Amino acid sequence: MALPSEFMQELRLRSDISQVVSGYVNLHRRGKISVGLCPFHGEKTPSFTVYPATESFYCFGCGVGGDVVSFIMRIENLDYIDAVKLLAQRAGLEMPQESSYDDSMQRLRLRVLEANREAARFFHSQLHTPQGKAGLEYLHGRQLSDGTIRSFGLGFAPDSWRSLTNHLLDKGFNSSELVQANLAMQSKKGDIYDRFRNRVMFPIIDTRGNVIAFGGRIMTDEKPKYLNTSDTVAFKKSNNLFALNRAKNSKSDKLILCEGYMDVIALHQAGFDFAVATLGTSLTSEQAVVIKRYTNTVVICYDSDEAGQKATARAIEILRRAGLDIHVLTIPDGKDPDEFIKKHGDSGAYRFRMLLENSGNDLEYKLTKLKEKYDMNTADGRAKYVNAAAVLLAGVRNSIQRDVYIGELAHEYNVTTESVERTVNYELRKRAKASKKDEFANAQKQLTNEGLAPIAGQRITGALRVVRAEEALIAYLVNNPDMAGKVTQSLPPQKFVTEFNRRVYSEVTSRILNGESAMLMDISPEFSAEEISRIAKILSNYNVDIATPKACMEYVDIILEESNKMTPKEITATMSNEEINRYFKWLGQAKKSKRKPN
Ligand code: UTP
Ligand code: MN
Repeated sequence: MALPSEFMQELRLRSDISQVVSGYVNLHRRGKISVGLCPFHGEKTPSFTVYPATESFYCFGCGVGGDVVSFIMRIENLDYIDAVKLLAQRAGLEMPQESSYDDSMQRLRLRVLEANREAARFFHSQLHTPQGKAGLEYLHGRQLSDGTIRSFGLGFAPDSWRSLTNHLLDKGFNSSELVQANLAMQSKKGDIYDRFRNRVMFPIIDTRGNVIAFGGRIMTDEKPKYLNTSDTVAFKKSNNLFALNRAKNSKSDKLILCEGYMDVIALHQAGFDFAVATLGTSLTSEQAVVIKRYTNTVVICYDSDEAGQKATARAIEILRRAGLDIHVLTIPDGKDPDEFIKKHGDSGAYRFRMLLENSGNDLEYKLTKLKEKYDMNTADGRAKYVNAAAVLLAGVRNSIQRDVYIGELAHEYNVTTESVERTVNYELRKRAKASKKDEFANAQKQLTNEGLAPIAGQRITGALRVVRAEEALIAYLVNNPDMAGKVTQSLPPQKFVTEFNRRVYSEVTSRILNGESAMLMDISPEFSAEEISRIAKILSNYNVDIATPKACMEYVDIILEESNKMTPKEITATMSNEEINRYFKWLGQAKKSKRKPN
């Protein structure tokens, strides 16, 4: 159910986008717009832009954009209604009656979080019961102190089918809530039973202190070793990190990224309170963005086995893209940080600190890995290595840094700087050429995405021209709604050649003609998050100050001209059945009216 439009208008007027965004991003004014470092992807130079005129934002770096509500949805990780609620609360605006919108999701989410919190309490208390003794002994056996067990809220799920389930039902939760929380499973007969049984339990707590999920470790060699909460309404594993709730308060300016829960806990116990881990999956770009909110430097500290090294190579790429500086700590002996620290007993923490201080950056790590592939005892092997290393150096963006490494490589292997440079430059030219080719392929792909697949090479320019005119027209109308009447008289939506722009145009013009406002925030409920970013991009691409009514009518002409060049079949290729019907009806009327002199 949609929220009443008077309420939304009031909210829109009271939620100034620049002001709202400033709560999260340090914005700098540049004329009529403001820019800052994008909070949705890591970057060092600002490409995140706020446009007060269109009440929208857009990031040229990651392509995310939208209105004030979609900004809050993304940054606070909320759904539409909750984002509106938050803005309303900040604006001192009372939400309309609950019956006028759907709030059930939010209520379920709160129930799931409450159930999780109660479950964590229950698991923890089990450690001090006869049936939980085995769990406590296991944790002690892994050398965790009582203090660590308490501060991480570790616990034990008894070897029983109904202990947590019964406990939570007694506390007033219903079966459906327990299943939705993924704390219980439903049998074919419809009974529910505990999902975690006979496992030591690791609660996963978000940065606001909510218990959002659990990992449970079996105490034997059985499989699966760890069982984790699947995604629920209150938990998405690709967006969260284990122990970030603690690490975010650390004095250190870095984060250590490990593979496992136990690694993180052992590190915290040894004084490295800035360790975090992914949640049973490999690192995602969302997690990298979350990390970037708290630090600029990540130390990857994965297992030293082959799987761990492969995962390191992957993580480097993902963290790089998020704009993070990366160090790689390789454990020389022992498999993972937990085992390393344990193995060295009293000197474990000291030794780990040494490793941390000596960890090289990602490039040095890659060079070391590369070296392992060649026989460095032969001249041939060394020559091949230097070549391959030069190719790797071509990937270093910063030219000063690149030059330093070129010099060092040349020096180390007793070759001239010039010959290393030649290889690097050759590689750079090759990459530049490849990216030009990509550009053309991208233009073609863009048109294909617009539904214009059958367009041949020579007509790509024309097609791109009309797509741009469509976008410019949309941007113009959002900024100058009074032109909508004139424009729609000559340009029915059917003349748009791309499906997406046609939908946006229809939505914008029909609202304006109904006397309603058609800012991005007004139309956004009709579009997905990705589509909203796309509209925000359209709005940001056109300079509203230089557009004139004359330019606006020129856009109309371009669209008419180009779509007249297209066959009805080409045009209808991007339409739904309903739109096709409307198109032919309109075509018939247009022909008739042409015959009539007026
Ligand atoms: P590892 O197999 O390296 O385990 O998995 P570990 O962290 O060293 O655990 P211990 O020391 O044997 O107790 C690393 C991480 O991968 C996830 C868990 O998050 C684990 O901490 N994992 C592993 C699972 O989710 N399920 C599994 O079955 C195994
Ligand atoms: Mn381990």
